[in-house]
Amino acid sequence: MSKTVEVIYQGTSYTLPVIKGTCGEEAVDISTLRNTTGLITYDPGFVSTGSCQSEITFLDGEKGILMYRGIPIEQLAEHSNFIETAYLLIYGNLPNQQELDYFQYHVTHHSMVHESIKNLYDGFPNNPHPMAVCSAIVGSLATFYQDQLNPQNEREIEITIHRLLAKLPTIAAYSYKKSIGQPFPYPKNSLSYTENFLHMMFSNPCEQYEVDPLVAKALDTLLILHADHEQNCSTSTVRLVGSSRCNLYSSVSAGIYALWGPLHGGANQAVIEMLQTIQEAGGNVKQFVEKAKDPNDSFRLMGFGHRVYKNFDPRSKIIKKMAHEIFGKLGGNDPLLDIALQLEEIALKDDYFISKKLYPNVDFYSGLIYKALKIPINMFTVMFAMGRLPGWIAHWIELQKDQDFKIGRPRQIYQGPKRTDYTPLKKRG
Ligand code: SDX
Repeated sequence: MSKTVEVIYQGTSYTLPVIKGTCGEEAVDISTLRNTTGLITYDPGFVSTGSCQSEITFLDGEKGILMYRGIPIEQLAEHSNFIETAYLLIYGNLPNQQELDYFQYHVTHHSMVHESIKNLYDGFPNNPHPMAVCSAIVGSLATFYQDQLNPQNEREIEITIHRLLAKLPTIAAYSYKKSIGQPFPYPKNSLSYTENFLHMMFSNPCEQYEVDPLVAKALDTLLILHADHEQNCSTSTVRLVGSSRCNLYSSVSAGIYALWGPLHGGANQAVIEMLQTIQEAGGNVKQFVEKAKDPNDSFRLMGFGHRVYKNFDPRSKIIKKMAHEIFGKLGGNDPLLDIALQLEEIALKDDYFISKKLYPNVDFYSGLIYKALKIPINMFTVMFAMGRLPGWIAHWIELQKDQDFKIGRPRQIYQGPKRTDYTPLKKRG
């Protein structure tokens, strides 16, 4: 017997169906609400609103569970690699050897960008933020492949998937090279995904650059941990843009911009800047925790809090463990790590953070690892975008095939002036 919800409005009773997810979540289906009652719902930030039914990622904020296509993130971080995880998210199953070889081959053999794209970098001022550059260059791909943008053509979507996954590391590395005035190295097909990225980031014509396998492996694991997170701000942006049947390049470009915000993916850069501020102010962590609690102070503990995780972020547990391993192996224990550990210890015992269920999220430790891997701070959010790309692609494809597909167009409650007449300029105050 399927459950229902009764709404009584102005003396009339309305029955709405309840949808149940495979892992037990329940939702009131209000799609007929306005037509039957004249009412709409109001939910700033969509705290209680589901935008779709999805088979890609499940997370349970209370239990700290995160699964990609049903596989726990802990197992993928331990046993998988980023290309295999990207395939899982996009196609819905782990690939067999033939499928993996085909996918890997095409992602590898699309890593070069059109030579004209390099000219686009010259149009930016010196030292532009790489997130702005990446979004602009990814968006420009829609002009280089404008005859293969049809969101309902399977073959055109497949080659777009290969091109985006293959070219984003190249575009990202070139955005860094542009900022330091160095030439753009070509990708090397003999290298793995993260080895190739590191090669393009740090090679230069004057000396051979040897990729450290430990660094490449750590980056690969970080990309897995960032690969999807259901309907977060940037993924919802990709879905909304895609709901107009806009092409995948442009939808992903919009997602990159949404991720840049300091409340979202930009938090990993903001965490390091916050830790550096605390260090430069003498390292008084307690003072900054009090600032974060002060309602009159706009200061927030970046890397703390989450819309969904109200217990712990399973990714931050894995990343925290990785941070200690990386520092152990690469040495150079970062004083910022000590400040981060003090911050976490104090905050987790403080009633303010406990009552508001604010725990370290994925961004709290990831920046410390990127810093240890010699990734420049203004590239941290670009690393998040590289990781999240398969999730954006998977959700955009799922949207295009959704049996309930509709263009995204929310309603509003108007609170502006009632009808008034135009006042001629001469009669205005
Ligand atoms: C990501 O959605 C996803 O899945 C995102 C992500 C993904 O993988 O895609 O997980 C990645 O974006 C992680 C979050 C990174 N952002 C930060 O670390 C920035 C700091 N955190 C916050 O700004 C905040 O916690 C959010 C934006 C993450 C969540 O915001 P919500 O759910 O809208 O909650 P809120 O801002 O309303 O905060 C609830 C209360 C508020 O106090 P009251 O208004 O109730 O008095 O908690 C307070 C906030 O003031 N609060 C904080 C705080 N975060 C929230 N107070 C101090 N420090 C903080 N970090």
